[in-house]
Amino acid sequence: MNALDLFRLDGARALVTGGSRGIGRAVAEALADAGCDLAVTARTLPALDATVRAVAERGRKAVALDGDLAEPGVAAALVDRAAAALGGLDVVVHNAGTLPAAEDGSPLLVPLQHAEQRDWETVVSVNLNATAAVCRAAHPYLVESERASLVLMSSIAGIVGTPMMEAYAATKAAQLSLARSLAVGWARSGVRVNALCPGWTRTDMTAFASEAGALSEWLTSHVPLGRWATVDEVVGATLFLASPASSFVTGHALVVDGGLAVPDGGLAGHPKPPSPFAATG
Ligand SMILES: NC(=O)c1ccc[n+]([C@@H]2O[C@H](COP(=O)([O-])OP(=O)(O)OC[C@H]3O[C@@H](n4cnc5c(N)ncnc54)[C@H](OP(=O)(O)O)[C@@H]3O)[C@@H](O)[C@H]2O)c1
Repeated sequence: MNALDLFRLDGARALVTGGSRGIGRAVAEALADAGCDLAVTARTLPALDATVRAVAERGRKAVALDGDLAEPGVAAALVDRAAAALGGLDVVVHNAGTLPAAEDGSPLLVPLQHAEQRDWETVVSVNLNATAAVCRAAHPYLVESERASLVLMSSIAGIVGTPMMEAYAATKAAQLSLARSLAVGWARSGVRVNALCPGWTRTDMTAFASEAGALSEWLTSHVPLGRWATVDEVVGATLFLASPASSFVTGHALVVDGGLAVPDGGLAGHPKPPSPFAATG
């Protein structure tokens, strides 16, 4: 056996939610490289054009599905549509997620005590309610598969304290709990369930910070590797969890954070710039 074959998913049928850009698009392309046919989702079909082209260029089938995961019923419908288009599902990477957003779409970073309840509820509906619905809807398809793997794209925010992003962090922690519960509950049906916890990764979602000099420097000063991750650095871990390379791994939260969540004990002495939050107390 060639060990690299463990990462192959030839002929597998995979659904990637939030596949229009960022981590989801990179994951969709990687799964196509590994041999999957893909269903990818986003709120609009044109947003998925580039992903569909990239998958097709790899010689795999790509189906684009639109739907807003904030709307009740949409998550389950997307799973059913994906399974119908591909003839079943072997791999589901539920990657779509959101930060609370202001009217103009920019991220709303407000401490819980000053945040609106409706912003909390929007984040919970997209990040948590839709996650439960995707998992529930995917179950009947995954139990029919010989190589079923469900991967939830959580976050390091679900592990470390994340002020000003409390709703986001709480939903990401809930995804970790859900992955563990489903992993145990579905294990004897042959369905593996794992979560992935990226740290700060350069995408549209984090452009507000990665493109803001002082804030970016402050955030990366807390990352032992001292920089932002690229989406490609999240892809390898996702492919591992999706593929037979992780066939005895379930209920795991795989951290890809450059060391952010490792307590440094204060001995490393990495220099820290002045905090851009010093005035907020
Ligand atoms: N970037 C990071 O630093 C980081 C760190 C840890 C975890 N994560 C997690 O990784 C995942 C991907 O993040 P990313 O940085 O790649 O984000 P991104 O660039 O903002 O992409 C988010 C994806 O989710 C889709 N999406 C957002 N809201 C949606 C909704 N209401 N209904 C349906 N689809 C929706 C987007 O599609 P459209 O907008 O085209 O509809 C897009 O495809 C998220 O779950 C995020 O929480 C990211």
